Amino acid sequence: MTIRGQVVLTVQSEQETALLAQRIAELVKPGAVLALDGDLGAGKTTFSQKFAKAIGVTDVVNSPTFTIIKEYEGASMPFYHMDVYRLSLEEADELGLDDYFFGSGVTIVEWASLIEELLPPERLEMYIAHEGTEERVFRITGVGEPFVSWCEALNEMGAGNNDDRA
Ligand SMILES: Nc1ncnc2c1ncn2[C@@H]1O[C@H](COP(=O)(O)OP(=O)(O)OP(=O)(O)O)[C@@H](O)[C@H]1O
Ligand SMILES: [Mg+2]
Repeated sequence: MTIRGQVVLTVQSEQETALLAQRIAELVKPGAVLALDGDLGAGKTTFSQKFAKAIGVTDVVNSPTFTIIKEYEGASMPFYHMDVYRLSLEEADELGLDDYFFGSGVTIVEWASLIEELLPPERLEMYIAHEGTEERVFRITGVGEPFVSWCEALNEMGAGNNDDRA
């Protein structure tokens, strides 16, 4: 059985999304995988851009919807940014994603639940819900360690307001 932890955080603005990305960036180590989901326009790419900035990526981070996988150089580790929306499970399987997931960088996968079978067993799952013009609810689930501990750390820091409506 894999241990799980959860934290639900509400942000009211893009700046608060950046703050949350910064807090997660402070926790990351090489080999960490952030599995993002949420509707079209929820903010998966925006979160990824803020996260990239927080780990010291200076290049412009675009949506990887058409490129599928993009690699960037961060201050202390590479950043791998994926969007698997347009891929079948078979196509995704052929990309050899484990080289990224178990590599020396940190990976963000947009639409990760579409390839759940291919994700590493230990990861940080983030579901972003669009609540208002700039209000977003991040439902964050840590699956396995160290991600369960990350949830505890995020809970203590309380990025945005803590939300009990989960
Ligand atoms: N608090 C917020 N956090 C993130 N994005 C926000 C926030 N408030 C407003 N936005 C806006 O919402 C939009 C989110 O678009 P984005 O491309 O990041 O979504 P996405 O989930 O990646 O969509 P897709 O499924 O098409 O890839 C952007 O225009 C962004 O400026
Ligand atoms: Mg996107």
